[in-house]
Amino acid sequence: MRIHGRHYRTIWVEQETVVVIDQTRLPHEFTTCTLTSLDETCHAIKSMIVRGAPLIGITAAYGVWLAMQVSAEDQMLAHAVAALGSTRPTAVNLHWALAAMEQKLSPLPPEQRVKAALNEANRLADADVDTCHAIGLHGLEVIRTLYNENKRCINILTHCNAGWLATVDWGTALAPIYQAHDAGLPVHVYVDETRPRNQGASLTAYELHAHGIPHHIIVDNAGGHLMQHGQIDLCIVGADRVTHTGDAANKIGTYLKALAAKDNNIPFYFAVPSSTIDWSLSDGLNDIEIEERDSEEVTHISGRNQAGHIEKILIASPDSPALNPAFDVTPARLITALITERGLVLPNRSALNSLFPEHAS
Ligand code: MRU
Repeated sequence: MRIHGRHYRTIWVEQETVVVIDQTRLPHEFTTCTLTSLDETCHAIKSMIVRGAPLIGITAAYGVWLAMQVSAEDQMLAHAVAALGSTRPTAVNLHWALAAMEQKLSPLPPEQRVKAALNEANRLADADVDTCHAIGLHGLEVIRTLYNENKRCINILTHCNAGWLATVDWGTALAPIYQAHDAGLPVHVYVDETRPRNQGASLTAYELHAHGIPHHIIVDNAGGHLMQHGQIDLCIVGADRVTHTGDAANKIGTYLKALAAKDNNIPFYFAVPSSTIDWSLSDGLNDIEIEERDSEEVTHISGRNQAGHIEKILIASPDSPALNPAFDVTPARLITALITERGLVLPNRSALNSLFPEHAS
């Protein structure tokens, strides 16, 4: 992704450290943050300096590398995997990346582990870029088909941020939109603001603006109204965990959009890399752990004040308690298809098993 004329990935290595874009400062400031230790990496994931399922996984992989620089013994490897694995509960990509790191490092003698950890984290990061690029190309065909049928600008609704900031590059839900725009297809995006943390208003809108894609930020409750009035042609969102039966957990509020889309006959796609599919789960509603975040995210809001400083202010009745479930589950029956790196697939066990036979057992 290009920002201020320079190509960026969301995470990279500088000497023995890991550099990430500080997403808590966007869209107001584009600043980076240097991670030098396992603890700093855990903090970056928990505090959402980095966020988005694929990027959380890749950051954790580099966190293992930072830990190996201190000690590459078995005990440290186990400690790093456990510490990073407990930072955020819903995105399965975290465990997928940690499993890949453990599988690569465990058989090696400690003296080979630092170099191998860096190589493996780099490999996972590069693979994420390729995967998201492929998702974009498959999703592009969905948009192209709609364009060929309608011969006018295609209006797409998205929720939260599943763009390049949530991955290493390209994004998942936004990758098809970038590909469509770059291919010359007219697209316009309705961006759900995505309370409580406003990843849509702050991150998705920032990305779309940087890429020159027409868009409007809408409040979370506006989507249903726009759907009823024919202003949305399709919805594309990302996911944090998808069961092998096709139920999909994503940012809180996604389910309500999928319900409204169903009622209005609007196709609803989840763009997901296979690293987001949890092959061990079959009942999304009961089996996917939903992260509960600090209620202060509901009662307070952060933004830039007139003096130009980023500050947090109280917006709720000060003595009222608040609840903050961070994700919800959209049942497979509300999903048109999953857009994966191998192509479109229906959200059910047999279709997923056919597309990913290596996981069929
Ligand atoms: O809490 P976040 O910001 O990490 O949640 C992110 C989302 O819900 C994204 O939609 C999801 O991770 C898909 S990212 C490609």
